[in-house]
Formats: sequence, C-alpha cells, structure tokens
Amino acid sequence: MEIHFAPIQGHTDTIYREAFRKFFGGLDSFYTPFIRVERGAIRNKDLRELENGVNEQNLVPQIMAGNAQELRLLVERVAEYGYRHIDINMGCPFPMITGAGKGAGILAKPEKVKEVLDCIKEFSGLEFSLKVRLGYESCSNLFELIPYLNTLPLRHLTVHPRTAKQQYKGEVHIDEFAKIYECSTLPLIYNGDLKSVADIARIVSDFPNLKGIMIGRGLLENPMLAENYLFGDEVQSADFKQRVVKFHGELLERYSGVLQGEHQILKRMQSLWEYLRNPNGDERILKKLKKCTSMPKYLGMVAEYLK
Ligand SMILES: Cc1cc2nc3c(=O)[nH]c(=O)nc-3n(C[C@H](O)[C@H](O)[C@H](O)COP(=O)(O)O)c2cc1C
Repeated sequence: MEIHFAPIQGHTDTIYREAFRKFFGGLDSFYTPFIRVERGAIRNKDLRELENGVNEQNLVPQIMAGNAQELRLLVERVAEYGYRHIDINMGCPFPMITGAGKGAGILAKPEKVKEVLDCIKEFSGLEFSLKVRLGYESCSNLFELIPYLNTLPLRHLTVHPRTAKQQYKGEVHIDEFAKIYECSTLPLIYNGDLKSVADIARIVSDFPNLKGIMIGRGLLENPMLAENYLFGDEVQSADFKQRVVKFHGELLERYSGVLQGEHQILKRMQSLWEYLRNPNGDERILKKLKKCTSMPKYLGMVAEYLK
C-alpha cells in the first residue's frame, strides 16, 4: 500500500519537500501544489517550482483546469520539463476557485469534467491521475461520474470524502467513500483526516483493496507519521525532536537563501507551526512563538518548545 504526501498550497513547496525527504521517510509520492492558468498564462512562480522540482524523485506536478484549452496548455508546459505523470485537481474547495468553475466547482458540471478529462487521451506518452472530492454541494456528484471515470486510463483516483461546501471541516463521509470504493474500477487512494497510526490502520483494514492513502495535515503535524505506521508506533521522542530541530534548521537556511528580509523569512517559518507539533511541547510557548516579531526571539521560543 502506497503512502502519498498530499499537496498543501503555501506549505509543501520545493524547499519543504526537499528538507522533508532529507530527515523523514516512508513516502512513495509527493505532489506540487496545484498550478493553474491565470489570465491566459501560467504564473512564473509556478513555472519556477516546476523547474526546481525536476530532479526530485517521485514528484507529481498537479494542475487545475476549467476547460479543455487550459488543460492542454498546462499539460504541454509541464511535459516540457520532462515530467511524465501529472495529477489533475478537481477537489479544491476555495470559493474563488470553485466560483470560476475549477477545482471542486467543476464537479457539479459533468459535461465540463468530461470536456477536460477526455483530453488526456490526446497525450499518449503521459500518465494522469485525478484528485477529487465527493462533490460541490452534494455528495452524489462524484458517484454519478464514476461510470465515466471508470472508462479513463487514469493511474489512480484520489478521493477526499467531503464536499467543497464543507471545506476541510466537519466529518468525512466514510459511507459515501465506501460506495465509491464498491463501484470504482480505478486504483483508489483514500485521503482525509489521517492523523494517527490508528486512523491509518482503520482505513487500511476497512478498505483492503486501496492502492494507497494520501496524507496532508497529519504529516505537516507529525512528519514521522508514515514511518510510525510502517516501522512501529513508538515515537522515540528524543529522535523525533532531534530530527525536527535539524529539519527546522534546514528550512531556515534554505528559505533565508530565497526570501528577502527577516520579516518574510520569519512569516514563512512561523507558518510551519500552523500544523507542526511537539507532542510533549508546551502549548503556551507554541502560541508565543507564532507571534514573535524578531528572529532571535523566535529561535529562542522554538528551542524552548522543542526542549
Ligand atoms: C491550506 C491548504 C492548501 C491545500 N492545497 C492543495 C493543493 O494545492 N492541491 C490539492 O490537491 N489539495 C490541496 N489541499 C488539500 C489537501 O491536499 C488534502 O486533500 C486535505 O488537506 C485533506 O487531507 P488531510 O486531512 O490529510 O490534510 C490543501 C489543503 C489545505 C488545508
């Protein structure tokens, strides 16, 4: 069973992924956060990310298209860098995206889904996968699309069993996922709320034919989660802390090399702590370190939190 690191915009950029690979393991695939067309073109920032990632092993660029023309433009550009597997995002719930008929917004328009996905057959040397939610407002959008999706040459289908309206909150609809599991003939990857070894074990035992699982926030919170599942649950707290300290040091060094000024670097480093946790750390220190306004103070707080 494969374990994939979910793309998280603003977190799992090239620098983060490279540092992660250096200090933590257990992952089969990584994805770039989605790349899309804005006013007829792809942002330079996104192209730089594609360029930086070309030597990363098992990195899957993710694209998001609202129509066939956008899909072709994105696929052709991504393939120019040499990538051979591309993931298509039909799951993003942000209103600005769904309002433009992209991400999970497209799921309520089956004819648009077909317009976009029919195009993948034009690219014979490339492989595609798809990442979706259950639907836009209704859980039944995906279910109704399954007979069509089953006809596509997709490498896998990753399902996050929430609707776009739920964003990232509320319960995941496991019963609805079970229906998809029953009627999909595509290799399936489950994604959503896997925060602990027990969560992973439960999903794997309830759905034994999964091709894999995808984890996002659980790995940002505990970068050892995949290793804990694969090699044993005993988090060696000393080892965990040492590795997080090194990981943090590497991120600081790499972001300092590309971001301008202490303020920007500090903001990027503080954003790590939206998710990253020391299971034995003091919550009050965590709150304080997120509010520090100078790098020396911040580093002092991090040392204190990871003590
Ligand atoms: C801040 C944020 C940014 C995200 N960016 C992306 C993205 O670029 N592409 C994507 O497919 N999913 C994105 N996601 C969704 C995650 O990949 C994943 O599907 C979701 O967080 C549920 O999995 P988890 O519970 O393991 O985190 C994002 C989620 C969050 C919270």
